[in-house]
Amino acid sequence: MVSVSFVLFAALSLSIQARPSPGNEPTRTISVNAVAPPNCFPALGFKMPSSTPSTLNNWWCDMRTEYGFVGFSYEVTDCQSLSKLRSDFLEIRETFNSRYIRMYGFCDRPGDNDIIDAAWGAGIGVHALIWFGFDNTDEWMGRRDALFAILHSNPKAKFVTRALQFGSEPLFDFVLDPPVLAEQVIAAKANLSSLKIPVTISEMAFGYQSWTQSISSTHTCCRFFSTQASIANNSWPIVLTDLNWFIDNGEGKKIYLSENGWPSVTSDGVQPNSPSAVANVQNEHDHYTVLDAHCKDFKAVPGGGVGWFWHIFSDDMEPGYGLFSTSGKLKFSPFAPKTSC
Ligand SMILES: *[C@@H]1O[C@H](CO)[C@@H](O)[C@H](O)[C@H]1NC(C)=O
Ligand SMILES: *[C@@H]1O[C@H](CO)[C@@H](O)[C@H](O)[C@H]1NC(C)=O
Repeated sequence: MVSVSFVLFAALSLSIQARPSPGNEPTRTISVNAVAPPNCFPALGFKMPSSTPSTLNNWWCDMRTEYGFVGFSYEVTDCQSLSKLRSDFLEIRETFNSRYIRMYGFCDRPGDNDIIDAAWGAGIGVHALIWFGFDNTDEWMGRRDALFAILHSNPKAKFVTRALQFGSEPLFDFVLDPPVLAEQVIAAKANLSSLKIPVTISEMAFGYQSWTQSISSTHTCCRFFSTQASIANNSWPIVLTDLNWFIDNGEGKKIYLSENGWPSVTSDGVQPNSPSAVANVQNEHDHYTVLDAHCKDFKAVPGGGVGWFWHIFSDDMEPGYGLFSTSGKLKFSPFAPKTSC
Protein backbone atom coordinates (compact mmCIF):
# COMPACT_ATOMS: atom_id res chain seq x y z
CA MET A 1 0.00 0.00 0.00
CA VAL A 2 2.76 2.42 0.88
CA SER A 3 4.58 1.95 -2.40
CA VAL A 4 1.32 2.43 -4.29
CA SER A 5 0.99 5.79 -2.54
CA PHE A 6 4.38 6.86 -3.80
CA VAL A 7 3.53 5.88 -7.35
CA LEU A 8 0.47 8.08 -7.10
CA PHE A 9 2.59 10.88 -5.75
CA ALA A 10 4.92 10.75 -8.73
CA ALA A 11 2.06 10.58 -11.21
CA LEU A 12 0.30 13.53 -9.69
CA SER A 13 3.22 15.89 -9.42
CA LEU A 14 4.47 15.03 -12.89
CA SER A 15 1.20 15.81 -14.51
CA ILE A 16 0.97 19.10 -12.70
CA GLN A 17 4.43 20.15 -13.74
CA ALA A 18 3.72 19.14 -17.31
CA ARG A 19 0.65 21.30 -17.53
CA PRO A 20 1.41 24.77 -16.24
CA SER A 21 -1.48 27.18 -16.36
CA PRO A 22 -1.92 30.80 -15.36
CA GLY A 23 -3.64 29.74 -12.17
CA ASN A 24 -0.94 27.32 -11.20
CA GLU A 25 1.44 29.47 -9.20
CA PRO A 26 1.37 28.92 -5.46
CA THR A 27 -1.20 31.17 -3.87
CA ARG A 28 0.90 33.86 -2.27
CA THR A 29 -1.63 36.66 -2.55
CA ILE A 30 -3.51 35.53 0.49
CA SER A 31 -0.53 35.70 2.78
CA VAL A 32 0.58 39.06 1.45
CA ASN A 33 -2.79 40.65 2.06
CA ALA A 34 -3.57 38.81 5.25
CA VAL A 35 -3.02 40.17 8.70
CA ALA A 36 -2.39 38.93 12.20
CA PRO A 37 -5.13 38.08 14.69
CA PRO A 38 -7.32 39.37 16.18
CA ASN A 39 -8.13 42.02 13.58
CA CYS A 40 -8.75 39.59 10.78
CA PHE A 41 -11.30 36.96 9.81
CA PRO A 42 -11.93 34.46 11.36
CA ALA A 43 -9.78 35.23 14.42
CA LEU A 44 -11.41 34.67 17.77
CA GLY A 45 -12.60 38.05 18.96
CA PHE A 46 -12.87 39.51 15.46
CA LYS A 47 -15.87 41.77 15.12
CA MET A 48 -17.83 41.05 11.95
CA PRO A 49 -18.69 44.08 9.83
CA SER A 50 -22.38 44.74 9.22
CA SER A 51 -21.96 44.18 5.50
CA THR A 52 -19.37 42.61 3.23
CA PRO A 53 -16.28 44.75 2.71
CA SER A 54 -15.44 46.12 -0.73
CA THR A 55 -12.20 44.13 -0.94
CA LEU A 56 -10.42 41.06 0.43
CA ASN A 57 -7.41 43.18 1.37
CA ASN A 58 -6.63 42.78 5.06
CA TRP A 59 -9.60 40.45 5.47
CA TRP A 60 -8.18 36.99 6.07
CA CYS A 61 -5.95 36.04 8.94
CA ASP A 62 -2.62 34.84 7.68
CA MET A 63 -2.82 31.05 7.57
CA ARG A 64 0.59 30.97 9.19
CA THR A 65 -1.07 32.16 12.37
CA GLU A 66 -3.59 29.32 12.41
CA TYR A 67 -2.67 26.28 14.48
CA GLY A 68 -4.15 24.19 17.27
CA PHE A 69 -7.85 23.48 17.29
CA VAL A 70 -9.53 25.29 14.38
CA GLY A 71 -13.03 23.79 14.33
CA PHE A 72 -15.28 20.87 13.44
CA SER A 73 -16.05 18.68 10.51
CA TYR A 74 -19.73 19.29 9.87
CA GLU A 75 -21.65 16.93 7.64
CA VAL A 76 -24.22 18.63 5.42
CA THR A 77 -25.80 15.52 3.94
CA ASP A 78 -28.96 16.13 5.99
CA CYS A 79 -29.48 19.37 4.06
CA GLN A 80 -30.04 21.15 7.37
CA SER A 81 -32.32 24.17 7.35
CA LEU A 82 -30.82 27.62 7.44
CA SER A 83 -31.94 28.07 11.05
CA LYS A 84 -30.35 24.77 12.11
CA LEU A 85 -27.11 25.72 10.36
CA ARG A 86 -27.20 29.10 12.04
CA SER A 87 -27.66 27.74 15.53
CA ASP A 88 -25.05 24.99 15.08
CA PHE A 89 -22.49 27.37 13.59
CA LEU A 90 -23.05 29.89 16.39
CA GLU A 91 -22.53 27.17 18.97
CA ILE A 92 -19.45 25.92 17.14
CA ARG A 93 -18.06 29.43 17.09
CA GLU A 94 -19.04 30.75 20.49
CA THR A 95 -19.10 27.72 22.78
CA PHE A 96 -16.13 25.93 21.28
CA ASN A 97 -14.01 28.82 19.96
CA SER A 98 -13.87 27.52 16.40
CA ARG A 99 -12.53 29.48 13.51
CA TYR A 100 -13.86 27.15 10.80
CA ILE A 101 -16.24 24.44 9.91
CA ARG A 102 -15.00 21.88 7.45
CA MET A 103 -17.76 20.61 5.19
CA TYR A 104 -18.23 16.88 5.03
CA GLY A 105 -20.68 14.95 2.84
CA PHE A 106 -22.97 16.61 0.34
CA CYS A 107 -26.37 18.21 0.01
CA ASP A 108 -27.49 17.95 -3.59
CA ARG A 109 -29.75 20.95 -3.54
CA PRO A 110 -28.60 24.54 -3.60
CA GLY A 111 -27.91 24.28 0.14
CA ASP A 112 -24.43 25.73 -0.08
CA ASN A 113 -25.87 29.25 -0.13
CA ASP A 114 -27.34 28.52 3.29
CA ILE A 115 -23.97 27.31 4.56
CA ILE A 116 -22.33 30.52 3.39
CA ASP A 117 -25.06 32.73 4.82
CA ALA A 118 -25.02 30.88 8.16
CA ALA A 119 -21.22 31.08 8.29
CA TRP A 120 -21.27 34.80 7.65
CA GLY A 121 -23.91 35.23 10.34
CA ALA A 122 -21.90 33.25 12.88
CA GLY A 123 -18.63 34.87 11.87
CA ILE A 124 -17.01 31.55 11.06
CA GLY A 125 -14.94 30.45 8.06
CA VAL A 126 -15.62 27.45 5.81
CA HIS A 127 -13.33 24.83 4.35
CA ALA A 128 -15.68 23.89 1.52
CA LEU A 129 -15.69 20.46 -0.02
CA ILE A 130 -16.63 18.81 -3.28
CA TRP A 131 -17.81 15.41 -2.16
CA PHE A 132 -16.62 12.57 -4.34
CA GLY A 133 -18.33 9.78 -2.45
CA PHE A 134 -16.85 6.35 -2.18
CA ASP A 135 -18.52 4.63 -5.12
CA ASN A 136 -16.75 5.98 -8.16
CA THR A 137 -19.81 7.78 -9.52
CA ASP A 138 -19.73 11.09 -11.37
CA GLU A 139 -22.20 13.09 -9.28
CA TRP A 140 -19.24 15.11 -8.03
CA MET A 141 -19.22 16.99 -11.35
CA GLY A 142 -22.67 18.45 -10.78
CA ARG A 143 -21.67 19.24 -7.20
CA ARG A 144 -18.56 21.01 -8.44
CA ASP A 145 -20.53 23.11 -10.93
CA ALA A 146 -23.20 24.01 -8.37
CA LEU A 147 -20.64 24.96 -5.75
CA PHE A 148 -18.56 27.04 -8.17
CA ALA A 149 -21.65 28.88 -9.31
CA ILE A 150 -22.53 29.73 -5.71
CA LEU A 151 -19.01 30.77 -4.82
CA HIS A 152 -19.11 33.20 -7.74
CA SER A 153 -22.63 34.48 -7.24
CA ASN A 154 -23.03 34.74 -3.47
CA PRO A 155 -21.32 38.00 -2.48
CA LYS A 156 -20.47 36.64 0.97
CA ALA A 157 -18.85 33.46 -0.37
CA LYS A 158 -15.33 34.71 -0.90
CA PHE A 159 -15.32 36.31 2.54
CA VAL A 160 -16.09 33.06 4.36
CA THR A 161 -14.65 30.35 2.11
CA ARG A 162 -11.07 29.76 3.17
CA ALA A 163 -10.37 26.79 0.93
CA LEU A 164 -11.98 24.36 -1.44
CA GLN A 165 -11.19 20.71 -0.89
CA PHE A 166 -11.61 17.80 -3.22
CA GLY A 167 -12.60 15.01 -0.90
CA SER A 168 -12.78 12.89 0.91
CA GLU A 169 -9.78 10.78 0.02
CA PRO A 170 -10.30 10.77 -3.78
CA LEU A 171 -6.96 9.07 -4.28
CA PHE A 172 -7.39 6.40 -1.68
CA ASP A 173 -10.82 5.62 -3.08
CA PHE A 174 -9.52 5.84 -6.63
CA VAL A 175 -12.42 7.96 -7.81
CA LEU A 176 -10.28 9.61 -10.48
CA ASP A 177 -6.95 8.71 -11.98
CA PRO A 178 -4.35 10.92 -10.34
CA PRO A 179 -3.55 12.89 -13.51
CA VAL A 180 -7.25 13.59 -14.02
CA LEU A 181 -7.61 14.68 -10.43
CA ALA A 182 -4.59 16.94 -10.86
CA GLU A 183 -6.21 18.53 -13.92
CA GLN A 184 -9.36 19.09 -11.90
CA VAL A 185 -7.39 20.79 -9.14
CA ILE A 186 -5.71 23.08 -11.66
CA ALA A 187 -9.01 23.91 -13.35
CA ALA A 188 -10.66 24.61 -9.99
CA LYS A 189 -7.84 26.84 -8.98
CA ALA A 190 -8.16 28.84 -12.19
CA ASN A 191 -11.93 29.01 -11.79
CA LEU A 192 -11.66 30.34 -8.24
CA SER A 193 -8.61 32.53 -8.68
CA SER A 194 -10.60 35.76 -8.93
CA LEU A 195 -12.11 34.88 -5.56
CA LYS A 196 -8.66 34.02 -4.15
CA ILE A 197 -9.92 30.70 -2.83
CA PRO A 198 -7.12 28.12 -2.67
CA VAL A 199 -7.79 24.55 -3.71
CA THR A 200 -6.59 21.43 -1.98
CA ILE A 201 -7.27 17.74 -1.66
CA SER A 202 -8.50 16.16 1.52
CA GLU A 203 -6.60 12.96 1.59
CA MET A 204 -4.87 10.54 3.89
CA ALA A 205 -1.10 10.21 3.95
CA PHE A 206 -1.91 6.69 2.99
CA GLY A 207 -3.85 7.70 -0.09
CA TYR A 208 -1.36 10.49 -0.77
CA GLN A 209 -1.49 14.22 -0.99
CA SER A 210 -1.20 16.84 -3.70
CA TRP A 211 1.33 19.47 -2.78
CA THR A 212 0.50 21.76 -5.64
CA GLN A 213 -1.17 24.40 -3.55
CA SER A 214 -0.15 26.71 -0.79
CA ILE A 215 -2.13 24.78 1.73
CA SER A 216 -2.65 21.15 2.33
CA SER A 217 -5.50 19.63 4.10
CA THR A 218 -4.87 16.17 5.35
CA HIS A 219 -7.19 13.60 6.48
CA THR A 220 -6.47 11.49 9.46
CA CYS A 221 -9.74 10.10 10.63
CA CYS A 222 -8.32 6.69 10.67
CA ARG A 223 -6.12 6.22 13.66
CA PHE A 224 -8.76 3.94 15.08
CA PHE A 225 -8.43 1.90 11.87
CA SER A 226 -4.67 1.68 12.14
CA THR A 227 -3.32 -1.81 12.54
CA GLN A 228 -1.41 -0.29 15.47
CA ALA A 229 -4.48 1.13 17.19
CA SER A 230 -5.13 0.27 20.81
CA ILE A 231 -6.39 2.86 23.27
CA ALA A 232 -6.55 6.51 22.22
CA ASN A 233 -3.99 7.45 24.87
CA ASN A 234 -1.48 5.62 22.68
CA SER A 235 -2.52 7.33 19.43
CA TRP A 236 0.09 10.10 19.23
CA PRO A 237 2.74 7.96 17.48
CA ILE A 238 0.17 7.11 14.80
CA VAL A 239 -0.65 10.81 14.32
CA LEU A 240 3.04 11.63 14.23
CA THR A 241 3.88 9.04 11.58
CA ASP A 242 1.32 10.59 9.20
CA LEU A 243 2.25 14.12 10.16
CA ASN A 244 5.95 13.52 9.58
CA TRP A 245 5.19 12.17 6.15
CA PHE A 246 3.31 15.33 5.29
CA ILE A 247 6.02 17.54 6.77
CA ASP A 248 8.74 15.70 4.84
CA ASN A 249 6.81 15.98 1.56
CA GLY A 250 5.04 19.27 2.10
CA GLU A 251 7.75 21.81 1.26
CA GLY A 252 6.76 23.96 4.19
CA LYS A 253 3.19 24.44 3.00
CA LYS A 254 0.33 24.95 5.37
CA ILE A 255 -1.11 21.73 6.77
CA TYR A 256 -4.55 21.26 8.27
CA LEU A 257 -5.44 17.91 9.76
CA SER A 258 -9.01 17.83 8.61
CA GLU A 259 -10.38 14.66 10.20
CA ASN A 260 -9.47 13.85 13.77
CA GLY A 261 -11.71 11.72 15.86
CA TRP A 262 -12.16 8.41 17.57
CA PRO A 263 -15.42 6.49 17.63
CA SER A 264 -17.27 5.81 20.85
CA VAL A 265 -18.92 2.74 19.31
CA THR A 266 -18.19 0.37 16.48
CA SER A 267 -20.79 -0.13 13.75
CA ASP A 268 -21.06 -1.67 10.31
CA GLY A 269 -18.72 0.80 8.65
CA VAL A 270 -16.58 1.29 11.73
CA GLN A 271 -14.66 -1.87 12.53
CA PRO A 272 -11.06 -1.73 13.72
CA ASN A 273 -8.15 -3.40 11.97
CA SER A 274 -6.42 -4.03 15.25
CA PRO A 275 -7.87 -6.43 17.82
CA SER A 276 -6.70 -4.07 20.59
CA ALA A 277 -8.53 -0.97 19.33
CA VAL A 278 -11.06 0.21 21.88
CA ALA A 279 -14.14 2.24 20.92
CA ASN A 280 -15.90 4.01 23.79
CA VAL A 281 -16.58 7.52 25.02
CA GLN A 282 -13.53 7.47 27.30
CA ASN A 283 -11.28 6.81 24.30
CA GLU A 284 -13.05 9.38 22.14
CA HIS A 285 -12.36 11.88 24.91
CA ASP A 286 -8.77 10.67 25.34
CA HIS A 287 -8.00 11.18 21.66
CA TYR A 288 -9.05 14.81 21.98
CA THR A 289 -6.81 15.26 25.04
CA VAL A 290 -3.88 13.65 23.21
CA LEU A 291 -4.23 16.11 20.31
CA ASP A 292 -4.69 19.02 22.68
CA ALA A 293 -1.65 18.05 24.73
CA HIS A 294 0.49 18.37 21.59
CA CYS A 295 -0.50 21.96 20.80
CA LYS A 296 3.13 23.07 20.94
CA ASP A 297 4.21 20.28 18.59
CA PHE A 298 1.54 21.35 16.11
CA LYS A 299 2.62 24.98 16.50
CA ALA A 300 6.25 24.09 15.71
CA VAL A 301 5.49 22.56 12.29
CA PRO A 302 6.86 24.61 9.35
CA GLY A 303 4.33 26.66 7.44
CA GLY A 304 2.84 28.27 10.53
CA GLY A 305 1.87 25.22 12.49
CA VAL A 306 -0.84 22.64 12.03
CA GLY A 307 -4.50 23.41 12.57
CA TRP A 308 -6.72 20.46 13.42
CA PHE A 309 -10.45 19.84 13.05
CA TRP A 310 -12.47 17.58 15.31
CA HIS A 311 -14.33 14.93 13.38
CA ILE A 312 -17.26 15.30 13.85
CA PHE A 313 -19.82 17.64 15.43
CA SER A 314 -22.67 15.19 16.05
CA ASP A 315 -23.39 11.46 16.06
CA ASP A 316 -26.24 12.33 13.66
CA MET A 317 -23.52 12.89 11.09
CA GLU A 318 -21.14 10.01 11.64
CA PRO A 319 -22.24 7.39 14.16
CA GLY A 320 -19.99 7.29 17.21
CA TYR A 321 -17.66 10.11 16.19
CA GLY A 322 -19.78 13.05 17.34
CA LEU A 323 -19.01 15.37 20.19
CA PHE A 324 -22.78 15.43 20.60
CA SER A 325 -24.96 12.35 20.83
CA THR A 326 -27.99 11.83 18.60
CA SER A 327 -30.12 13.24 21.41
CA GLY A 328 -28.10 16.46 21.29
CA LYS A 329 -26.16 15.95 24.54
CA LEU A 330 -22.44 16.42 24.93
CA LYS A 331 -20.88 12.94 25.18
CA PHE A 332 -18.08 14.27 27.35
CA SER A 333 -17.26 17.59 28.87
CA PRO A 334 -15.50 19.89 28.79
CA PHE A 335 -14.40 20.01 25.18
CA ALA A 336 -12.16 23.07 25.26
CA PRO A 337 -9.11 22.45 23.07
CA LYS A 338 -6.43 25.09 22.87
CA THR A 339 -6.52 27.49 19.94
CA SER A 340 -3.10 28.89 20.79
CA CYS A 341 -0.19 27.88 22.99
C1 LIG B 1 -16.37 28.18 -13.10
O1 LIG B 1 -17.03 26.94 -13.17
C2 LIG B 1 -18.43 27.03 -13.40
C3 LIG B 1 -19.03 25.64 -13.24
O2 LIG B 1 -18.22 24.64 -13.76
C4 LIG B 1 -18.65 27.64 -14.78
O3 LIG B 1 -20.03 27.73 -15.03
C5 LIG B 1 -18.01 29.02 -14.79
O4 LIG B 1 -18.14 29.58 -16.08
C6 LIG B 1 -16.54 28.95 -14.40
N1 LIG B 1 -16.04 30.31 -14.26
C7 LIG B 1 -14.79 30.66 -14.57
C8 LIG B 1 -14.44 32.08 -14.32
O5 LIG B 1 -13.97 29.87 -15.01
C1 LIG C 1 -5.71 8.04 29.44
O1 LIG C 1 -4.84 8.90 30.17
C2 LIG C 1 -5.52 9.76 31.10
C3 LIG C 1 -4.47 10.69 31.70
O2 LIG C 1 -3.41 9.97 32.23
C4 LIG C 1 -6.23 8.92 32.14
O3 LIG C 1 -6.94 9.75 33.02
C5 LIG C 1 -7.22 7.98 31.42
O4 LIG C 1 -7.84 7.14 32.35
C6 LIG C 1 -6.50 7.16 30.37
N1 LIG C 1 -7.47 6.39 29.63
C7 LIG C 1 -7.48 5.05 29.57
C8 LIG C 1 -8.55 4.41 28.77
O5 LIG C 1 -6.65 4.36 30.17
